[in-house]
Amino acid sequence: MTLATIEAEQGLRAALALDPAGVVATIRESGMKGRGGAGFPTGLKWQLAAEAVAPDGVRYVVCNADEGEPGTFKDRVLLAELPDLVFEGMTIGGYAIGSHEGICYLRGEYVYLLADLEACLERRRAAGLLGPDVAGSGFAFDITIHLGSGAYVCGEETALIESLEGRRGEPRNRPPFPVVSGFRGAPTVVNNVETFAWAAAILARGADWFAHIGTDRSTGPKLLSVSGDVQRPGVYEFPLGVSIAEVIEAAGGHDAKAAIVGGAAGTCVPARDFGRAISYEDVSTGGAVIVVGPWRDLLEVAENLQWFFANESCGQCTPCRVGNVKLLEGIRALRRGELTVQQLEDMVSLGQTMRIASKCGLGQAAPNVLLSIIENYRSEVLGHIPVGAR
Ligand SMILES: Cc1cc2nc3c(=O)[nH]c(=O)nc-3n(C[C@H](O)[C@H](O)[C@H](O)COP(=O)(O)O)c2cc1C
Ligand code: SF4
Repeated sequence: MTLATIEAEQGLRAALALDPAGVVATIRESGMKGRGGAGFPTGLKWQLAAEAVAPDGVRYVVCNADEGEPGTFKDRVLLAELPDLVFEGMTIGGYAIGSHEGICYLRGEYVYLLADLEACLERRRAAGLLGPDVAGSGFAFDITIHLGSGAYVCGEETALIESLEGRRGEPRNRPPFPVVSGFRGAPTVVNNVETFAWAAAILARGADWFAHIGTDRSTGPKLLSVSGDVQRPGVYEFPLGVSIAEVIEAAGGHDAKAAIVGGAAGTCVPARDFGRAISYEDVSTGGAVIVVGPWRDLLEVAENLQWFFANESCGQCTPCRVGNVKLLEGIRALRRGELTVQQLEDMVSLGQTMRIASKCGLGQAAPNVLLSIIENYRSEVLGHIPVGAR
C-alpha cells in the first residue's frame, strides 16, 4: 500500500512550511476528490471552509470514520495500521482551514480500536505533533475521538454532526452545507478517513505525483475493500480508472456473475460490463467491491440489502421510510412467485421516485442495487413471475 511508504510527518512538515492557502492550493492541484463516496473535490471543500465566516474564529475538522457501508472496511484497516497518517492529515486540514479542533467520529462497532487510537493521539501530543504548538510552528491543534452508536445514517455528514451535538442522528436540510455551518454552527470540514491519509501523502510527495496517477477527472490511487465470492478478500490499492475485471482478478474471483460496486448503496454491474472503470466519471465507489459468484440468486442479494435499508432508514422522510419497506415486500413477493409484471414496474417507478424525493443519500441510493438488477438481469427477474402474470 502506497500509504504505508509515506515517511512519517513529512506531509505535516511540508504543510507547515507553506501558508494555509498554499496547503489548500496543493490539495486543489492534486485534483483529489473525497474518498468517502460523494466525490466532492477536497481542496475546494477546504477552501470553502477557510473562507466561510466563522463566529469567534472557530472552525472544525471532522474525520468521518463511521464506515457503515456494507462491504466497506478499508477505513478500519487504515485506522488500525496507519492511524498516525490519518491524524497527520487531519492536522494538515486544520492548519489549512484555520481550525484548532479535530474530531474523529468512530463507528461504534470499531470500539475495539479506541484504546490504540487514544494511545496514538497521546504519543502525538508527547511528540509535540498535537497540542498548543504543533511541531514548533505556533499552530495549535488537537483531536478528540467520538464514538458512534451503530447507526448507518450517522455516516451522512449532517446526521453525523447532529449526533456529535448529542442529538438523534438525522440528516439536516442542506443548504447550509457543513463548510458554512456545521458542528455547533461553525464552518466544518467533514472528510473520510482515507481522504485525510491521502492529504498527508499529497503534501509529502507533491500534488503532481498524485495528479499523474489515475485519470484526468479521477486522480490518484484508491483503496478498495474487495469481498464476496473471491479467494483473497481484502483491501487493495489501484489507480482510479482501473477496470472492474482487474480488481476481481487480483482478488481471485472466478466466473463472477456480477459485482456490486459501491456497497449496498452502489450499483450491480453485470459481467459483460466488467471492462468499465472504477472512477468518478464511470462507476464510482467510496471503496466497496462485492463480487457475486455465478451460483448466487441476485434477488436474494437484493432482499438482503433492501432489508438493511429498511432497518437503517432514520424515518424522517416518507419516500425512504415507506419506500424501503415496500421494495422489501415486493422483492419477497417476487421471490415467492406472487408478483405480476405490472407490480414489478410499479416497484421500478417507486425506486425512481425514492431517488429524487428522499431527503438524503440513504434513501436516494437505497433502490440502486435493486433497480440495476432489474435492468441488467431482466429475463432472470421475469423468470420469478408466474407465466399467467406476465
Ligand atoms: C447514508 C450515508 C452514509 C455515509 N457513510 C459514510 C461513511 O461511513 N464514511 C464516509 O466517509 N462518508 C460517508 N458518507 C458520505 C458523507 O456524507 C460525506 O460525503 C463524506 O464523509 C465526505 O468525505 P469525503 O469528501 O472525504 O469523501 C455517507 C453518506 C450517506 C448518505
Ligand atoms: S432519506 Fe431516509 S435516512 Fe435520509 S432523511 Fe429520509 S428517512 Fe432519513
